Amino acid sequence: MDGTDTATGARIRATKEMSAPMTQGPEHSTGSGHASEDAAQPMEERVDNRSQRPDNEQFREFMASGWAAPEHTSTPRSEVAEFAAARRARLSRLFPGERLVIPAGAPKVRANDTDYRFRPHSAFAHLTGMGVDHEPEAVLVMEPTDEGSGDDRSGHVATLYFHPMAGRDSSEFYADAKNGEFWVGPRPTLEQLRDEFALPTEDLSGLETAVTKDAGNAALGGLSIRLVRDVDLNMDALVDTSRINTGVDLEQADAKDATLAEALSELRLVKDRYEVGELRKAVAATIRGFEDIVSVLPRAIGGERGERVVEGAFFSRARLEGNDLGYDTIAAAGNNATVLHWIRNNGSVTPGELILVDAGVEAESLYTADITRTLPVDGRYTDVQRRIYQAVLDAADAAFEVAVPGNRFRDVHAAAMEVLAARLAEWGLLPVTPEVSLSEAGQHHRRWMPHGTSHHLGLDVHDCAQAKRELYLDAVIEPGMVFTIEPGLYFKNEDLAIPEEYRGIGVRIEDDVLITEQGNENLSAALPRRPEDVESWIQGIWNRDENVGPSAGPAA
Ligand code: GLY
Ligand code: MN
Ligand code: MN
Repeated sequence: MDGTDTATGARIRATKEMSAPMTQGPEHSTGSGHASEDAAQPMEERVDNRSQRPDNEQFREFMASGWAAPEHTSTPRSEVAEFAAARRARLSRLFPGERLVIPAGAPKVRANDTDYRFRPHSAFAHLTGMGVDHEPEAVLVMEPTDEGSGDDRSGHVATLYFHPMAGRDSSEFYADAKNGEFWVGPRPTLEQLRDEFALPTEDLSGLETAVTKDAGNAALGGLSIRLVRDVDLNMDALVDTSRINTGVDLEQADAKDATLAEALSELRLVKDRYEVGELRKAVAATIRGFEDIVSVLPRAIGGERGERVVEGAFFSRARLEGNDLGYDTIAAAGNNATVLHWIRNNGSVTPGELILVDAGVEAESLYTADITRTLPVDGRYTDVQRRIYQAVLDAADAAFEVAVPGNRFRDVHAAAMEVLAARLAEWGLLPVTPEVSLSEAGQHHRRWMPHGTSHHLGLDVHDCAQAKRELYLDAVIEPGMVFTIEPGLYFKNEDLAIPEEYRGIGVRIEDDVLITEQGNENLSAALPRRPEDVESWIQGIWNRDENVGPSAGPAA
């Protein structure tokens, strides 16, 4: 089933309406029939090449009639609405007198008229409170007004522009694969999103004017626009065109846009109560996903692609309880665990080895967990595996100790590195003393731990990534921050600088940490971390799964 028999989507329509410079509509086609020009035939026409949808008046009338009236139920206000309003008010204070344009983005094309599942840009989700499915091609416009007379006594009035669901008497209903109810199911009306998120809503047709009116060079009395760029190409084109036409310095404008992106990242450094609640849900679902992984481990053994069995089990949980994965699962057995972002997951799972699983469920609200456990495939760590695992665990515990208000974010990494450098030296692997290794000119221990120990976590797995260095790495830790603690040691088969017994072992332990007034809370503490606890947890799951265990036989 494909979208052949459909009208073109809202994206193309929006582009034409806005007359943005990227427009490649039919009016630009010469239609002279030369092969080279045929090759440039616009996509909407090419899709029409395959259409067999009847288009006579009788058919249109028949399709438009005989449908039950839509049910009119009132939409309750979402609990996130008040939090999103407070976030917008904080943003407003940073950019008085400027128009802020925050697009949700459009669905990404996978091939031709087939798109990837839509996920809104995280800045849009944060400022509107909208989660899964909401809302392709929507744009939040924060219009400046007199300080104190805007929303929540801020200096801006926010409006959400989007393409609402059309009636069943429209051709969109059955002929638009991107928006039509026949194709994608019911979509929100203007009233529904207004009521649910407590935001004024307007049809997308008013967007061009809303974004460009009175815009221009601030020095000449024009209104300054700041845009979250690279999210919706139509919006980039519209704003750029407006800037060019009104004599705005493009370089300066780009810098202003970058500052907005930075501010939006920084706005998320401290999570509000709603966000912490959603992160707890994501973590709880992720923990259940890890239980599923242990359950299928016996089935993963022996087949050629046992890692896929593990990946699949977790994905199933992510879709069952959440929206999706927060990022591609890393299911890395044996030496694959030493590849930091091993997402190919096409290796086998062998008793006697470890399997490192780094996975996170993304909740319907789009907040994600990010958890790693390194499990013994047959339920018991060998001595050398345990030695390495314990070193990583000690490093993580040291990091937890310093992950408290008042310390700096970078102290967390430093604490973990001290433990690892000392342990590597004890094992005779460091060519220098731990002190030399820990010095700036040394860093030899990083051969086996080349990544950072922590990153902020939230709507994005690497949340707040555009925040300024002084507010991220060099920042003082504050209550409400949520970040990971994830030290590891990775000894590759190919590493000739270490004794053979270490080779082919990769261990990472990753937890999600909420900073509190008193210190911190390990949000993922319910998932066993200590080696003996991991072993008894695995055994408990296998016992529960009646007769299923490591000896249950190979994968089919
Ligand atoms: N899962 C990616 C990370 O741990 O940062
Ligand atoms: Mn992580
Ligand atoms: Mn991770």
